[in-house]
Amino acid sequence: MTNYKELISKMTLEEKASLMSGDNFWNTKPIDRLGIPSIMLTDGPHGLRKQGGKADHLGLNKSIPATCFPPAATLANSWDLELLNEVGTYLGKEAASEQVSVLLGPGLNIKRNPLCGRNFEYFSEDPYLSGKLAANMVKGIQSHGISACPKHYAVNSQEHMRMTIDEVVDERALREVYLEGFRYAVEEGQPKTVMSSYNKVNGEFANENKHLMQDILYGEWDYQGVVVTDWGGNNDRVEGLKAGNQLEMPSAGGITDKEIVDAIKTGKLSEDVLDEAVERMLTLVFDTKEALRNTEKVDYEEHHKKAIDAAKRSMVLLKNDESLLPLRQGQRVAVIGDFAKAPRYQGAGSSLINPTKVDNAWDLLAETELKIVGYEQGFNRFGGKNESLKNSALRLARQADVVLLFLGLDEGSEAEGVDRQDMRLRGNQLELVNELSKVHDNIVVVLSGGSVIEMPFVNDVKSILHGYLGGQGGASAVRDILIGDYNPSGKLAETYPIKYEDVSSAPYYPGLEATAEHRESIFIGYRYFDTKHVPVLFPFGHGLSYTQFEYSDLEVTEQSISFKVKNVGMLAGEEISQVYIKSTNSSVFRANKELKGFSKVHLEPSESKEVKIELDDHAFAYYNSFINGWSVESGLYEIQVGSSIEDIRLTETLELQGDDAPHQYDQEVLKHYYQGDVHQITDTEFHQLLGYTPPNPLWDRKGKLGYNDTIAQGRYKKGFGKALYLVVLLTKKVLHVMGKPLQANNVMFVMNMPFRQIPRFSQGKVSEKMIDRLLKLINLW
Ligand code: BGC
Repeated sequence: MTNYKELISKMTLEEKASLMSGDNFWNTKPIDRLGIPSIMLTDGPHGLRKQGGKADHLGLNKSIPATCFPPAATLANSWDLELLNEVGTYLGKEAASEQVSVLLGPGLNIKRNPLCGRNFEYFSEDPYLSGKLAANMVKGIQSHGISACPKHYAVNSQEHMRMTIDEVVDERALREVYLEGFRYAVEEGQPKTVMSSYNKVNGEFANENKHLMQDILYGEWDYQGVVVTDWGGNNDRVEGLKAGNQLEMPSAGGITDKEIVDAIKTGKLSEDVLDEAVERMLTLVFDTKEALRNTEKVDYEEHHKKAIDAAKRSMVLLKNDESLLPLRQGQRVAVIGDFAKAPRYQGAGSSLINPTKVDNAWDLLAETELKIVGYEQGFNRFGGKNESLKNSALRLARQADVVLLFLGLDEGSEAEGVDRQDMRLRGNQLELVNELSKVHDNIVVVLSGGSVIEMPFVNDVKSILHGYLGGQGGASAVRDILIGDYNPSGKLAETYPIKYEDVSSAPYYPGLEATAEHRESIFIGYRYFDTKHVPVLFPFGHGLSYTQFEYSDLEVTEQSISFKVKNVGMLAGEEISQVYIKSTNSSVFRANKELKGFSKVHLEPSESKEVKIELDDHAFAYYNSFINGWSVESGLYEIQVGSSIEDIRLTETLELQGDDAPHQYDQEVLKHYYQGDVHQITDTEFHQLLGYTPPNPLWDRKGKLGYNDTIAQGRYKKGFGKALYLVVLLTKKVLHVMGKPLQANNVMFVMNMPFRQIPRFSQGKVSEKMIDRLLKLINLW
């Protein structure tokens, strides 16, 4: 933080307060008389979404064209810190060239459950991987002097009721799983801005949660930057400011600035708190504005090439029986599936980029040496039976040596504001693959989608290439991998369960009304499957290459490990090696093993390289909530090096002397946690682990609605409240039927918005008095 004390001394109270909220949807307020400029903040996270005309935060109105890089869920599969830094650099350049000071990303919430509607915007189920990737992206973005903005701090695990839900999570899971990625992003990436999340964490809104903000972010991590609310995520402005949430976005029409001024006048808020907030804001404003003085012009062609490169390095070859891939020259190939011609390359919501161009697989495959026998759509993207599409596809398949079948999730399935209903592809796609497999042996499925899906067809096809959401160059990357111009190297940053019911949080997700109980605690993703030995479809860290690698010579110390990787196949390729640590005699419940390091090396055929990986001070530790700190138990630890979490190639044991700080876990009371059996967690176990009795997970269905309630709660009312709820619900349904999923989404935003937010969001057009009257009317019944 720079010292702006002198400048601050010249500001009036009203001017200081004015810096605490936006001027409009995307800009902060200037103070012309003192030469303080306005700065612009825009999405994020995998491209620039700068809106010229009408503004919104749900991807409805167009933004200026920008390069659409692959979203976080895709990039994460690269496990490539350099790539994340590079993509960040490209993003930063585009933002700077458009005079944007803060790019709202990366998103790094932990993928608690595969159904979260925004999983495509997040990296992984693992905090170490998420945090390292995010830190490098932050560094890349900020290399242009502007600010990145890791989001959404914290535990924004579901979209349903995201503005009011209370995420009830025990301190250990909070630290080890939900905050650990943010810690890396903040400590290593040094972002100038962090975005707080909409939800509550253990009873307090994240943006006014003193534990999250004061104790951890500013205290333990020594964060030096600004915290901005998520758009419309402010609750009690003064409490938010006290906790350290300086900037409220977007504009609240001056309503909350006045609340700050009044609080200072009445002594509710100390002016020192405001002064510190102003100093942080001024540092952000002046630093980033300075960086925007001389920006470079963007070469969008070059950026498109980088988008292709990023996609190539991130796609995952899940299965490749009999080396069906890469395709050989002259092979007769049938291209089937809507996604071949109309690619799905990004998700919906505030991250929706207006791309400079979009590649499609059909055009690109036609230019190769393959003998393309034709294209058939095969199915309607948005579901429903169509026998004629299916039969034409079956006819075409019969003429080919290989069938390239492009399947995926449609645009409505993965979107901000709504969670997915299930983990399945549409029935018509499953039916098609099933029937095709009866007439053809050589099927390659190319998948599009940013989150985990069930694959009942896994044994009916020979190869599966997961393209995830490839960004605007995704189809070029797919083409290169299919024909062998690029050797696939991506590995899954999340586990693919066989079926949804296998997921650890499935019995508890999403929280439907007042709270979301994280009964599964630390057992998220592989931390559960690997501990409980639940068979999975594809494990965490899995991904195939067209070559093979051998591992040898493992050496371990407490600080670092080294080993050799050799390419023993015929093609050059890249291998992602993963380091897992297993505590063999722990007295606390722990996951079977946890990721603590990784590396990616490029190897020519027969080449071998030594890989060295540093272990950090959390490598052996668990979070001991009884001492409020990290603790290491003495004992034996296995260091496992693998090609995936299930494909461990080398193991060494290390004896450690720890601090052995005491804990009070009672193995009898927490029986299911000790067994990793988290589908069965009783109230007693969960409450014991939490250390408090959580509030009723359901809304008070009989009580009166107040400022912090939502239109959604009208469903339990009679009269006007119910009518309002039904009108909003009907509007949403009609928009869906009209084929406008994004607009329908926006309606959900209104449905789930607390009443307090309406005057602020409408910038005073709907006054607080009007809300009072509305609530009175609703509460008549
Ligand atoms: C999203 C944020 C986004 C902001 C601005 C919110 O709805 O949760 O991720 O940055 O809008 O568009």
